Amino acid sequence: MEQLQSVAWRDGGVRVLDQRLLPQHEVVNTYTTVADVAESIRSMQVRGAPAIGCTAAYGMALVAVHGAAHQSSDLLPALAAARVTLDASRPTAVNLFWATRRMYDYAVAQQSLPLSDFRQAMLAEAEAIFAEDLAMCMAIGRHGEPLIPARGNVLTHCNAGGLATAGYGTALGPIYRAHELGRTIHVFVDETRPYLQGARLTAFELQRAGVPLTLITDNMAAYFMGRGLVDCVIVGADRIAANGDAANKIGTYGLAVLAHAHGIPMYVAAPTSTIDMRISDGSMIPIEERSSDEVTMLAGQRIAPVGVHAAHPAFDVTPARLIAGIICEKGVVTAPYESALATLMQG
Ligand code: MRU
Repeated sequence: MEQLQSVAWRDGGVRVLDQRLLPQHEVVNTYTTVADVAESIRSMQVRGAPAIGCTAAYGMALVAVHGAAHQSSDLLPALAAARVTLDASRPTAVNLFWATRRMYDYAVAQQSLPLSDFRQAMLAEAEAIFAEDLAMCMAIGRHGEPLIPARGNVLTHCNAGGLATAGYGTALGPIYRAHELGRTIHVFVDETRPYLQGARLTAFELQRAGVPLTLITDNMAAYFMGRGLVDCVIVGADRIAANGDAANKIGTYGLAVLAHAHGIPMYVAAPTSTIDMRISDGSMIPIEERSSDEVTMLAGQRIAPVGVHAAHPAFDVTPARLIAGIICEKGVVTAPYESALATLMQG
């Protein structure tokens, strides 16, 4: 299967596939400053929790590789500043903070290396974060595939596929795996208002991979569930609290309520880098507020009267009790989540 690569390190720069232009145009931009990398995350050229983490790691590598220094430790203040800049780009996906912390802590641990070795080691650490994410997605695929019922009708929301990760995807991982195994599989793809990640990105990558899909508007989910046409729901996550509450794209909570009402299992697929054991429950997850223009405008056209106030929380939190299982690279975690996640994260 041909994989679209959301982000990569190439020739001393960070290459980002501009997802704002998909599916019409495949444009890749190369950035060589932390400010530009942070802006590529803020403006959603690159998006999806794991992909944001990989991009931020490469942003930290930029400073290590190109920063002026006589010795490795000279780069620590610039790396600390880069971390602040990158961390300010988007608030909800914890993978961003996880990746910059890992890169900074690694820099501190390696600061006694000769400068050229240090630069190489920092780049290798960013590449390791990318490679590990890809491996985690493949493992999520393997663990999640058996959860898809035989008839194979999966509903997903937003984009938690190869475009949102280092490749393969989290929520789409089990779907790709089932497809590779030759199983019957069909995906209901929520359009995902207002930013249309489902229509623009998930439909695009599933179609490219040859996975049968039906695009639906978000308000059609109950219709198809009520007719018994949805066998399970699989979504990604931007941050999972220690009690299993999961933040994901706005609309996910509504889907979880619908799935519960219809007796349909809803799974959250995410790598352990998305689990934030520092917060006890979902009420502590910061929710990004995005521009109301993304609600009042559609494809550059105004769709609401001028002056109308529009709200735009970009994420919501699904309570753990509505989640049938959390699929991560180490296996599938089920309730009671507090103890199960604690054991998982210790192991
Ligand atoms: O605002 P986005 O497009 O970055 O939101 C993305 C999501 O909500 C994804 O479902 C989540 O990050 C998981 S990606 C594997």
